[in-house]
Amino acid sequence: MAEDLQIIQGDKAAQYQSLIPQIKGLLEGEPDLVANLANVAAALKEQFGWFWVGFYLVKGEELVLGPFQGPVACTRIRKGRGVCGTSWAQAATLIVPDVEAFPGHIACSSLSRSEIVVPLMKAGEVAGVLDVDSDQLSGFDETDRQFLEEIVALIMI
Ligand code: SME
Repeated sequence: MAEDLQIIQGDKAAQYQSLIPQIKGLLEGEPDLVANLANVAAALKEQFGWFWVGFYLVKGEELVLGPFQGPVACTRIRKGRGVCGTSWAQAATLIVPDVEAFPGHIACSSLSRSEIVVPLMKAGEVAGVLDVDSDQLSGFDETDRQFLEEIVALIMI
């Protein structure tokens, strides 16, 4: 596996295209879920510098905080609550351009302005979510959806 991540400049698609093979390298041959989630969160944070990048894992009736990069965050989110719990309930990626306009948004930090949440699927069920927060409004678009969905599909959960 790579020792150091190669960080590139360029448009967002080019950044993802550089990052994805490196993420494949990090995941290759490593079966431990926590190790893999931790490295994916770190790789995304290093390349894109987002405010917060991390995972929540389904445990019973709640999402529980998993590996992440960024400020401390809420530890438990119930199904259907906030952006993460709504993504879980709908089994769908959610792009929120302005978190203050999302009913029920859970503000782990007042600095978070926009957010994308991508479900991690296992055998047709949501097993967790990837949550990415930006301190800018409208930080995420369809390019992020496409590539982040591709990245979470690489993780054997
Ligand atoms: N804002 C999320 C909660 C998680 S934190 O942003 C890290 C939500 O509404 O689900």
